[in-house]
Amino acid sequence: MTRVFFDVNGETHQLELDTRTTLLDALREHLHLTGTKKGCDHGQCGACTVIVDGRRINSCLTLAVMHQGDEITTIEGLGTPDGLHPLQAAFVEHDGYQCGYCTPGQICSAVAVLAEVKAGIPSHVTADLNAPVRLTNAELRERMSGNICRCGAYSNIAEAISEVAGRSA
Ligand code: FES
Ligand code: FES
Repeated sequence: MTRVFFDVNGETHQLELDTRTTLLDALREHLHLTGTKKGCDHGQCGACTVIVDGRRINSCLTLAVMHQGDEITTIEGLGTPDGLHPLQAAFVEHDGYQCGYCTPGQICSAVAVLAEVKAGIPSHVTADLNAPVRLTNAELRERMSGNICRCGAYSNIAEAISEVAGRSA
């Protein structure tokens, strides 16, 4: 067992964990933050996406002990039922889900995508590395390609993210 401390959604937590515990299991099983979902547990679906020190990661692929002192944001830290994050509100407005299982991961990923674009970080499909990065449909689909939706709500998800990107552009 190892003592691990990190900050989750603005609160510091200290846990005694088996060193083999993934960050996903630490969040769900130990802190009871069940908004972050376990889909594949193999880094293939994106359902477990959280934001760590400003970057999105698959929390099933990383051990909790690797995040000593880190700042972690989960879907619970983005908004509240009465004060939705703009992306949460846009997902509701555009019907960006069916079962909702992939949704927390989609939204955490989308938060990171908007930050990447704002920072001018290119993606695999960015044609001109000298021009300002714009969130075109191709850019959006490439950047969100690690988040699988088994219900196939992709077009509504893309509309929701594009609306927020346009708003904040
Ligand atoms: Fe982590 Fe699928 S549960 S990527
Ligand atoms: Fe069901 Fe995406 S809304 S998996």
